[in-house]
Parts: sequence; C-alpha cells; structure tokens
Amino acid sequence: MVKRTLVTSALPYANGPIHMGHLVEYIQTDVFVRSQKMMGKDLIYCCADDTHGTPISINAEKAGMKPEDFVAKYAIEHQRDFKSFLIEFDSFYSTNSPENKEFSDLIFSRLKENDDIYEKEVEQYYCEHCGRFLPDRYVKGKCPKCGAEDQYGDVCEKCNGTYDVVDLVEPFCVNCKGKPVRKTSKHLFFKLSKYSDWLNTWLNSAKIQPEVRNQILNWVKEGLQDWCISRDGPYFGFQIPGTDKFYYVWLDAPIGYISSTKNYCNLNGLDVDSYWNVSGNQDDSDSRIIHVIGKDIVYFHLLFWPAVLHSAKIKLPDEVVVHGFLTVNGEKMSKSRGTFLSAQELLEMVKPEHLRFFYAASLNKVMTDIDLDLNEFKNRVNNELVSNIANFFHRSFSFLSANFEGKLVKPDLDEVTKTTEIVNSIFESYSNFEFRKAVSEILRLSSIGNSYMQANEPWKLIKEDPDKTQMVLSTCVNIAKNLAICLKPILPEYVKAIENQLGVSSLTLADLDVIIEGSIKEPEVYFRKIDDLRIGKMKFDLDLRVAKIEKIERHPEADKLYIEHLDLGNGEKRQIVSGLVPYYSAEELEGKKIILVANLEPAKLRGVMSEGMLLAGEEGETVGVLFVSDAELGTSVLPAGYEASTELINYKQFTKVKLSVKDGKAMFEDKILLAGTEEVKAERVINGSVS
Ligand code: 2FM
Ligand code: ZN
Repeated sequence: MVKRTLVTSALPYANGPIHMGHLVEYIQTDVFVRSQKMMGKDLIYCCADDTHGTPISINAEKAGMKPEDFVAKYAIEHQRDFKSFLIEFDSFYSTNSPENKEFSDLIFSRLKENDDIYEKEVEQYYCEHCGRFLPDRYVKGKCPKCGAEDQYGDVCEKCNGTYDVVDLVEPFCVNCKGKPVRKTSKHLFFKLSKYSDWLNTWLNSAKIQPEVRNQILNWVKEGLQDWCISRDGPYFGFQIPGTDKFYYVWLDAPIGYISSTKNYCNLNGLDVDSYWNVSGNQDDSDSRIIHVIGKDIVYFHLLFWPAVLHSAKIKLPDEVVVHGFLTVNGEKMSKSRGTFLSAQELLEMVKPEHLRFFYAASLNKVMTDIDLDLNEFKNRVNNELVSNIANFFHRSFSFLSANFEGKLVKPDLDEVTKTTEIVNSIFESYSNFEFRKAVSEILRLSSIGNSYMQANEPWKLIKEDPDKTQMVLSTCVNIAKNLAICLKPILPEYVKAIENQLGVSSLTLADLDVIIEGSIKEPEVYFRKIDDLRIGKMKFDLDLRVAKIEKIERHPEADKLYIEHLDLGNGEKRQIVSGLVPYYSAEELEGKKIILVANLEPAKLRGVMSEGMLLAGEEGETVGVLFVSDAELGTSVLPAGYEASTELINYKQFTKVKLSVKDGKAMFEDKILLAGTEEVKAERVINGSVS
C-alpha cells in the first residue's frame, strides 16, 4: 500500500530568472499536486535551486559576486516568481546545503564500495592565463565540420555538427580569448555501462510514457558510455572527499531531490527514509516518487539517476513524467524576437490564472511541445474561462443575491448528482496528467450548468413561481460548487473567492457530496475578457542602420545632389545620393555617422545609383541630418519593442512611416529611435518632419 507520495519538478539553475518556459513544468506539477491533495492523498511537492557548476561561478564572477551570494539572490527571486504564479512547494531548498553535501558523499561512498567508480586520464583544454581547465562551453573556435567561426567546443550552431572539443580549429578561451593548451588530468568515472541490463529491466517496469521509454531503450541498445562525475577546480560545488576534484553538478543536482525532502521531513518531524529509504531499513514500496521533467533532461533522469540510486541502494523513482518545450506562436522562444519572457515580464501581460488555465488546457501526458498561440490564448480566456465558466458562477450567484438575499433552499438533487460522475472523471484525468482532457470535461460541466439555467429561465420564472426559482438557483449554486472543486487545482485563487462567497472553507473532493446550505455572499467580478495580447516585438517597416560617410563627391549632373560613399561596418559599403548640397558643405558631412534607410529599393538619381537614403530632419527652411556619436557602424536603429523588417520598400511606402523630430530627438510615433542604447538626434532641427 502506498502511504505517501513525493512529487518533484526539475531544479531550476540559480543562474537566471524563471521564464515562461520553466512555468509550464511548475504549473503542470502544481496542478497535479493540488488535485492529489484534494483527493486526500498524503503527498508532498519538493524542489530546490540547482546551484553548482561552471556557468554559475563564471556568471557570479561577472556580476562581481561570490557564488554563494549570487545563488542566494536567485533563491529569493525564484521563490517570489513561483509564488506569483501560485506554485506552492512543500519544500523549496538548495543543492548548496549541508544535507546535499552529506547525501552526495554518502552516495559517492556507496558507489565506491560497490566498485562502480574508477579513475581515468582525460585530455582537456587548459587556459594558463585563467589557470583553469576549460569545459566544452568555455572553449570556442572554428567548427571542424563546416568552418563556421565562433562555435562552442561541443556543437556547431551553424551546421548542428557535434564534435570533440580537441577537434575545434583555432580554439580560444571564452573568458580571456587566450589560446588554451592541452593537458591531461585524472577524472572519476561511474560505471554506467555495467548497468545496461539492469536499466533495460527497470525501464520496462517503471511508469514512463511509451515514447520516452522507447527512446531510452534505444540509447541503451546503442551502448552506454561510463559517466565522468568529477570536475577540476576552481568549481562551485562540493569537493570530492580525498581528492582535489569536485562532483560534477549533474551528480549532486538530483540528489537535491533527496535533500529537499529531508528539509521537509526535518520541519515536519518525519524521517526522510519514509520517502527515499536511504538507510535501507524500510519497506521500499510504502512510498511513491514521481519526477516531472522536460524532454531535454531525460538522459540524466532515466539513465544516470536510476543507475546511481540502484548502485547506492536507495529507492528508485516510480514514475517520470516528461513534457515538451514551449513555443510561442509556433516558433522557438527567442530573446531577439522578444518572445522569451521572464516570469516578471509575463506578469505585466497576463494574469497568472489565465496562464495556468491555458497551460493546463494545452498539457497532456505526452512529450510533444506546447504552443503559446496568442490568439488561442485570448480565445480560451475569453470564451471558455470568462464566457462559459466565470459567467455561470456569476449569473447563479448574483441572481440569487439580488432576488433572494442569497438564501439557499433545497436544490434538485438529481440535477446536482448528475454532475458527480463528471467530477470524478475529471480527477481521474488529473491523476493521469491528462489535463487537456480534464479541462474539456470542466467545460462540459460548466455548459451543463449554463444549459440548466437557460432551460429554466429564472428571469422569467421568478414572475410566476418565486419558490421554484429559488430552488433552480440553489441547484445552480450547488452545481457551481462542484465546478469549483474541479477548477481548484488550476485556479486556486479564483476558487478561494468562490469559497468565500459560498461560505465554505477549503473545498476538497470530499465536498462533492456536501450540499451547500444557508446563504451565499454577493459575488464580485473576478475574471474579465482580455483585449489583444501581444508578446514579442512589433515589425518596424524600415531597416535603419548606422553608417559613416567615408567619402563625398558632387553629382556630375545635378547641382543639389551629393554622392556619398558609406561604410556600414562588417565590410559592407554602399553609395547613396542625397539632396544636401544647399544645406551642407562636403567637409561638414564627411566622417559623420548618419542613419541609413537600408531597405529602400535602389534607384538611379540622374543616372547615378543610390542604394538607400540617409535621414534628415526639416523645420521650415532648416535641414539637419539625423546622427549618432557613439553607436557602432551597422547598428540597427529602432524604436523600443520593435524589430526591423528587411523587406525592400519603395519611397512611397517609406513616406507612410511616421517619423519626426521632437526636442531634437528622432522619433517614430511617440517612441525615440535608438541605435542600441544611444538616442538618435537631429542636427539643427528641434521640432520637425523627417525625410
Ligand atoms: O536542466 C536544468 O535546468 C537542471 N538544472 C535540472 C536539474 S534537475 C535535477 F536533476 F536536479
Ligand atoms: Zn582564459
């Protein structure tokens, strides 16, 4: 008999903010956990910050902080963000904790006792200037396969080729740009290959999605390599006893699951063995362990981790649930497109419960990616959450409040009971991580409530039969209570407001059989429809770039025209023609950094080719060019929140873009044009037009 369950989400790196992609997993796990707790299960949700490894120490150094302070800062931010999105842990701990050090050493000593650790010489890059061995991500060079410059030591972003770091052409240290040398160093390996057969059996017995199991069984079939679990210092992590090495972050990270559980147990007078059976004295089958992870870390959770636990004689996970990645409008999240938002940025655009509802409605127990399609998001919120669900609550509660002072009478029990079966099936879907199905059943339940009300037309009925009307509305309120039970895992704050209106304390699945009596409080509007929602940058029709006038000459055929030879940086040169002769001498213009419209169709002006035009302000008789002083050549010039279009346009299309000069600054509508961080200014002109 399973007495208690531990559920975990992957431990976020204490190396950056929680973002919209992370939230998929934490919301998924949180909805599951809340649903199970409502079913009365003895279940806890533990997580922690993943605090070790080279990227964290290097970023801490860049920020001028000690790694301890750096990860402490993220510990606070992460917990604030989780709270904002109503993600509730029973324990949120840290892998940089004494417990984690203790468990890591214990597990390592058991692996050693079991003869599963051996030493081997490894050749690596070493930077003499920085005095450190360089992990793959800290060496760059030319891709040995396609020759692309500036590629990491393990994989080329141009051709997607993978290779050995020592094959990189002209390698350099990412930190100091110096040339690294090859050096050998002794490392510790875990005998993963020894466990191939065991893994084969275990993978077939654990609860794993079939597509995931097949993928991993294939890896096992292809042959497993032993796993290097040590790293050279300096390294932010735990030193391996008796050596000058440190545990590789991926060894102690999952051990953080145990440490976080231990933290919970310490605070609640429990024994960590009742979950993990670390001491081996307990019945392993009393507890159930479920890991929720993303598809990128399957290798660690379904090969290394179980093999390590097995060798160390610690309880294994019973179930691993794997989700896909988040895409936005069908595309990979991207910082440059503005579709990679942190939890904080997202909070400014969406209500946490809208996002929880949308993510839940998109999630099933499959590894496929989920898409944050903004149209679908808006439609789901407006049509399903507001018009269907919230509207049913609001109509039922406000009608009863307005006409019967909120007083309830005995409902039509048949009608209320009809919904019981749906509620049970919704909780079964939650238990199976089939949230998409749960949400569609919730909508069916809400529609049943709405149809019942529609069929009885209380607004008409009240004139003929007030008693029956009160009964109908009381029935609606009790159906709404059942609906609230189903919604609570996804919308905990909303349901709190409903509980308050119903005058009940925390609803659980057991309240399915309870009939609400007495009276209800008047409702307030909680969810409202949303207008257009946008995430990501808007298109700016112009491709404006910083360019320098290198050389200037008079047009041979036209008095008012100059021919300017421009340098756009990165070796790109262009020639344009402009009508500035009446306003500027050649000397005044030469060497200036101007703003080029780079996507204007090339045209011949009096027989001379012009590849674009420069921007100038105009105020009455005064004309002054737009310019920058510091921005580098080639820098894109844009209003904040926009990305440049590269499509060619003609002059007429250019004139439709609303550019102007205000207080000497170049503007698009009410936004200042920026070259990186530098504001673009106009010479001479204070307020005027731009052409
Ligand atoms: O991939 C990641 O973001 C890791 N920090 C996840 C660690 S999960 C567990 F194994 F600790
Ligand atoms: Zn270096």
